[in-house]
Amino acid sequence: MKQAWMLGAAIAFAAPLFTVVPLAAADNAPRYTEEGRLQAPINYREWIYLTSGFNMSYAEAQPGAAAGSPSRFDNVFASPEAYRSFQQTGTWPDKTVLVLEVRAAGSNASINKQGHFQTGERFALEVHVKDVERFPGDWAFFGFTGDEPAKMIAMTAQCYSCHLQHGAVDTTFVQFYPTLLPIAEAKQTFRSRR
Ligand code: HEC
Repeated sequence: MKQAWMLGAAIAFAAPLFTVVPLAAADNAPRYTEEGRLQAPINYREWIYLTSGFNMSYAEAQPGAAAGSPSRFDNVFASPEAYRSFQQTGTWPDKTVLVLEVRAAGSNASINKQGHFQTGERFALEVHVKDVERFPGDWAFFGFTGDEPAKMIAMTAQCYSCHLQHGAVDTTFVQFYPTLLPIAEAKQTFRSRR
């Protein structure tokens, strides 16, 4: 009898712990080296897909300028915990990690005659991290060349000013993320941006 009571007590104590501990949140939270470099989020391809931009450019078209440059796709991913939280609140929680990878566009290979597909060549891997205790503007950018930890991009870089001025939700480009845009509009977290 005594043992059964103890078991019951143990379950009663343990149960609330399981509901409170945010196990999943720790999994894809940003991790840093001792010098403050961000560890590459190497499993980001298992995260939630937000969009693919094709040849997006932020400058007015300049005659001749784009003609020689290769076409590119960019793919955006959010950590699953951040995505789930966005669905509830319409904005990003602390420890959000967003990834943008840039890939070359191929054409005329295999059976493809028109249009473009993505190739294995990754031009860039850029990461946007929300960590309110660590970064003065809540968010910071990092650029990776391989899987080595990356230094934070200086706050004077244009990344910060463009995202701050034009990002529709909390310095991110939700206006281009079709599954998130309606949520932000419904929750009224969407700032009208151009
Ligand atoms: C002139 C504006 C502009 C500048 C400068 C800029 N970005 Fe962005 N960024 C965008 C747009 C637009 C998107 C949305 C891309 C899409 O829809 O495919 C984006 C998306 C991103 C994302 C995906 C998550 C998010 O925040 O929405 C990351 C990561 C990112 N940019 C990193 C960078 C980094 C790093 C730099 C600086 C080296 C930079 N950006 C500079 C406009 C800009």
